[in-house]
Parts: sequence; C-alpha cells; structure tokens
Amino acid sequence: MSDAALLMDRMYRRQRHIYDATRKFYLLGRDGAIAALAPLPGETVLEIGCGTGRNLIAVARRFPNAAVYGLDISSEMLATARAAIRRAGLDGRVTLAQGDASDFDPQALFERAAFDRVLVSYALSMIPPWREALAQAIDVVAEGGALEIVDFGDQAGLPRLLRAGLRRWLAAFDVTPRDALGDELAALARRRGARAQAYALYGGYATRATVDTPGRRIGPGAADPAPAWTGRSLTT
Ligand SMILES: C[S@@+](CC[C@H](N)C(=O)[O-])C[C@H]1O[C@@H](n2cnc3c(N)ncnc32)[C@H](O)[C@@H]1O
Repeated sequence: MSDAALLMDRMYRRQRHIYDATRKFYLLGRDGAIAALAPLPGETVLEIGCGTGRNLIAVARRFPNAAVYGLDISSEMLATARAAIRRAGLDGRVTLAQGDASDFDPQALFERAAFDRVLVSYALSMIPPWREALAQAIDVVAEGGALEIVDFGDQAGLPRLLRAGLRRWLAAFDVTPRDALGDELAALARRRGARAQAYALYGGYATRATVDTPGRRIGPGAADPAPAWTGRSLTT
C-alpha cells in the first residue's frame, strides 16, 4: 500500500463514521457542483476522491439515468461508500474502485478511458501532487464533457485573523487550500482547448471551478438557473 493510501486510511478509519454528519456544516458548495454536472441520460459521471459516497448517491438520485463511478485511495472510505450505496438501493448504479487520483488507469479500473462528467470535491486540497491529479482529471473528461470542482479557497476575502485560524485548523487535517488552482486550471484547460472558470465563493472560503470541453452538452436536472458565478473570478 502506498504512503498516501496509508495516511488517508489512518485519517479516516474512525472519522468516516461521523464524516457525513459533521462535514455538511463546512464542505460548502458541494450540491451546487453536483447540480452543475447535468449529464445527458445514459452519460457517465466519475467522482475522484469520492470518500463516503455522499456525493455519488446525490448524483445517482439527481440524474437517475446516469452511470456513476467513484475513485478513492482509502479502502476505509470505500468500505463506508459501499455500505451507503447499498443502503440507498443504488448498488447497480454506482461502480467503485481504489486508486490514486494523481496516477490511475481508468481503463483498468472502470473499463473506460473517459467520462462525460468528472467531479472533484474537497479532494485536491488533500492531495500533495494536486497538479498531477488535476491534469489527470481533465485528461479523463470525454469530448463534449465537463469537469466540476469545489474545494477550500484562498480565503482572501475573510478577515485576517479568521483566515489564519482557518488555515491552522485545516492544516491539522492535512488540508492545504490550493491558492494557484485558478491559474493551473486555466493553463491545463488551454492545453486541452477547453474553457476554464474558477470563482471564489463566500469570501474565498470555497472555490468553484468548471472546465468545459468544446461542444459541452447540458442535460436535464442542471442547476436552475444555470450555475450562478457570483464570486470573485480566479481565472485570467
Ligand atoms: C475531504 S474528503 C472528500 C470526500 C468527498 N469528495 C466529499 O466531498 O465529501 C477527501 C477524499 O479524498 C481522498 N483522497 C485523498 N488523497 C487521494 C488520492 N491521492 N487519490 C484518491 N483519493 C484521495 C480521501 O481518501 C478522502 O476520501
């Protein structure tokens, strides 16, 4: 087992039992990112760093004709996800696999090279090689598809003391906000001929970002109205 997998298993062995009940108060913006996925019927959605399966279940319920896939490095988190998906009666709809977001082979794990929608929710801030994970997330988006990201932001709009306290608290959980996310995303999207948008929400507490490949399709069940980008832009 890799060091990264051991670290995540150690972190979540106990936490996973209270994860969903506690994180709903501070992993903000996840449902907006899910609503923005809007796959067409029959399309595929992959969540990278799927954790307890909370988002996978929400995706499968909101988009009942999508095929849903989840990848995580932690076998502990995947055990919780598997049980939650079974309890939700979504066994046949969601496929799980263990892998490292910064280096995985989608064909070997899921028998497909690309996905119509990819979601990365509060995972990049926990992945030291986050630039590699981001590049791979864009690589596995199918033509006409999109990548949706939500994560901790640069907190630039928050009072200085609150910001310092928040950074310290996040660091205790091995979480590092990726302040360069907007720039990195824009560079990777340009290379792919795609369009990136990244915005700071809630004073920079969170970042929401989207990469649209050319000809992006939008299915039913999208956020209504279309995702409202109301925060400070992080892409140039
Ligand atoms: C904060 S949790 C977020 C879970 C879920 N996406 C959510 O929004 O509730 C971060 C997840 O990323 C996973 N993770 C961390 N490093 C990873 C890596 N290198 N590859 C894949 N998953 C990773 C952790 O195991 C954990 O399940």
